Amino acid sequence: MSGVADFKPGLEGVVAVETEIAEPDRDGGSLRYRGVDIEELVGSVPYEKVWGLLVDESLEPGMPEPEPYEPLTLTGDAPADAQAELARLSVVWELGKLHLISEKKARDDLARLSAQLMAIVARSARVADGHEDPVADDRVAKGKTAAEKFLLRWRGEADPAHITAIDTYWICTAEHGLNASTFTARIAASTGADAGASMSAAVGTLSGPLHGGAPAHVIPMIDEVAEMGDPDRWVRDLLDRGERIMGFGHRVYRAEDPRARLLSRTAEELGSPRVETARALEEAALAELKRRHPERELLTNVEYWAAIVLDVADIPAKLTPAMFACARVAGWSAHILEQKRDARVIRPAARYVGPSARSLSSLS
Ligand code: COA
Repeated sequence: MSGVADFKPGLEGVVAVETEIAEPDRDGGSLRYRGVDIEELVGSVPYEKVWGLLVDESLEPGMPEPEPYEPLTLTGDAPADAQAELARLSVVWELGKLHLISEKKARDDLARLSAQLMAIVARSARVADGHEDPVADDRVAKGKTAAEKFLLRWRGEADPAHITAIDTYWICTAEHGLNASTFTARIAASTGADAGASMSAAVGTLSGPLHGGAPAHVIPMIDEVAEMGDPDRWVRDLLDRGERIMGFGHRVYRAEDPRARLLSRTAEELGSPRVETARALEEAALAELKRRHPERELLTNVEYWAAIVLDVADIPAKLTPAMFACARVAGWSAHILEQKRDARVIRPAARYVGPSARSLSSLS
């Protein structure tokens, strides 16, 4: 019963799977996909090729184009629309159960779903903007990359700085080991669920603010600090109220998050007007977190600078979890395939700490 005795809240430090896809180098502050540093990927290849690297271990052919598909209903709440439509696609496309289909078929299902999720999010964002008519396919087809096509499908136009912001963000957040959404995808896949159900389950984890949702809270923070003009006091007041500073702390990294470094550089290069306040708040937050938690390295995480980069592309806060879902389709797909190969249901143990045996009559 040693597994039960070794209870680790939040499974921190527990090795639940072995993976060949990517693993953050927690002390060195770098992140490699299939061995290739993300620093080398950003600006060299577009996101859809990084999808290929992660899923197929090859840049070619990469993620395909989304095929024609009409979503049943789009509410304009992109994560909810994506979650519902992915589950629906399992039925509409008659996807096979993962334990019954070939590796090639599973890979192709995941490729179709990944591309379609991006199209659904773009169309849902368009509905949220008050447009009922989709952008014509021939206009979208003019885009050269997945990021450009995403913007064209959403807004009918694509500013070059916005394309760079989204492509960089997607590459930086395409995969990150066994985080909450990926673990969820693997758990679903381990039961033999189909690829649509597995991805839909993963999207569900993004509705909370602690995974993929933090960028939505960062811009309001930056604006409050800019208005107050005193980042040190703002940080102290927030921590005194027992709240957390969004975009700081990480379960894995005990060194600088390489994605935060890369994205802060991108925010600067793209001329974000919020960079100056963001740097002042970052400095104040790091100093105060260090003072209050000398035992724990609480550093800037990816979501802090992701918020500033996504803001360059005028991404509304409400859309940020769905932008994260678009990026993470690569990681989820690669892990779902890896889990299919493992062919073992994920079923950890729980240690019972409730009441000892008692009779029903003792309750009255
Ligand atoms: N602001 C203030 N305090 C923080 C903090 C933050 N961002 N992150 C962690 N802490 C504190 C906790 O309050 C806790 O203090 P306590 O022991 O006095 O209660 C301590 O540090 C450890 O926190 P814990 O929740 O155990 O760390 P974790 O490794 O489980 O959590 C996160 C990791 C990311 C969930 C956490 O750092 C967090 O909530 N950050 C803000 C949300 C965020 O940026 N999410 C995006 C992640 S990429």
